[in-house]
Amino acid sequence: MKLLSKKVTCNSHGQDSSYFLGWQEYEKNPYDEVRNPRGIIQMGLAENQLCFDLLESWLAQNPDAVELKKNGESIFKELALFQDYHGLRAFKNALVEFMSEIRGNKVKFDSDNLVLTAGATSANETLMFCLADPGDAFLLPTPYYPGFDRDLKWRTGVEIVPIQCKSSNGFRITGSALEEAYQEAGRRNLKVKGVLVTNPSNPLGITLSLLELNLLVNFIAAKGIHLINDEIYSGLVFKSPGFMSIMEVLMNKKYMNTQVWNQIHIVYSLSKDLGIPGFRVGAIYSNNEMVVSAATKMSSFGLVSSQTQYLLSAMLSDKVFTKNYVSENRKRLKHRQQMLIRGLRNAGIGCLESNAGLFCWVDMRHLLSSNTFEAEMEIWKKIIYEVGLNISPGSSCHCAEPGWFRVCFANMSEETLNLAMQRIKIFAKSISNTIINGRDSNQYSNKNLRRKSLANWVFGLSFHDHKYER
Ligand SMILES: Cc1ncc(COP(=O)(O)O)c(C=O)c1O
Repeated sequence: MKLLSKKVTCNSHGQDSSYFLGWQEYEKNPYDEVRNPRGIIQMGLAENQLCFDLLESWLAQNPDAVELKKNGESIFKELALFQDYHGLRAFKNALVEFMSEIRGNKVKFDSDNLVLTAGATSANETLMFCLADPGDAFLLPTPYYPGFDRDLKWRTGVEIVPIQCKSSNGFRITGSALEEAYQEAGRRNLKVKGVLVTNPSNPLGITLSLLELNLLVNFIAAKGIHLINDEIYSGLVFKSPGFMSIMEVLMNKKYMNTQVWNQIHIVYSLSKDLGIPGFRVGAIYSNNEMVVSAATKMSSFGLVSSQTQYLLSAMLSDKVFTKNYVSENRKRLKHRQQMLIRGLRNAGIGCLESNAGLFCWVDMRHLLSSNTFEAEMEIWKKIIYEVGLNISPGSSCHCAEPGWFRVCFANMSEETLNLAMQRIKIFAKSISNTIINGRDSNQYSNKNLRRKSLANWVFGLSFHDHKYER
């Protein structure tokens, strides 16, 4: 162990979070309609698989882009040798136009202010390196995307201080919560370098209101700190109120070329909006020349391959395609979200009202045996091992209140989502019955017997003992 660095051997990566543990459990026993119908259904992965038919049909109609040709002539050698870390001009232009299109063309982006990165993961980390020193802090509203513990903190040594948002106001950011987080950082002797928000929010599935955006801009202006807006889900707003980018707020306030203009940065990626996380395409957009220059130098550590840039510049320049894709994607997401809400409602489970993203923020507080995070973990284990669903507990998103879970709805077929809803209905009914009858821990003295009984009910089949040897 001593042969390795402290960074590698400390556990600040966050790998032991229930968010990642759930994925590991899923990998051991993944659901498959034919091969493993009793397996775990993955509902903890914010993937957008709803529009692959549109992407594949575009690829079939555009062989030049796929075969790395221009007007029928191969440009393989050119792309194979290309290594400028500024990226392909054609791709950057196409990407900023796509970003504008998603924002209803209310804002224009300049491709000179864009830095390409290997996904939003790399973009967020690069910004941390540019804006903060080890031991400095960023304030993040809770609940937040569990990957931030790894992306923002692990290699940079930056600390996250939570802005505690509460269910009583729908987890909205308030002035007092911002101020309290700032004070808390002070009490911990941490210098606050900025605030980072995701808009739309992962895991809440809601867009920030104009009130919240104004509050954030005023707060960072008053404190002289940065604001990072991770807008990775900006193309996935399928219901009103619509999405408002921080850039639109700045333009409306006529903040161009003011100090604040230089303190605000956007993170973007095609992982969610285009559903291609495997391609590793992300970006930083900043009006701050020094940040753009430093991030461009740093992007050497996580470039986007030139053939990916070439293919996607052709795809994103096809305006007929992008327009249709964006609107069809929103339609399909809305339908899926409604399916999930309906399914959960049938099980007596509610969600935070949402308008965006690939997940709902689900309220299972009434199913907890006590108002504690231990009870939340207890129920999460039941759901993963006995019901066969991997969902993300609120505690993995640093939610301050036990009983909330993030449930994804766009990474599976409709049939699988329906099956998941049947399983959750049986589960919720069984838990409600035990709570009503007050016999949770008494009815079955043996833990395995209790598990078997629920599993038998959920799957309608008897389980073998080895399934429980975890
Ligand atoms: C808010 C947020 N930021 C960043 C990421 C990482 O995205 P990427 O795959 O582009 O690295 C995710 C992925 O789930 C996310 O939800």
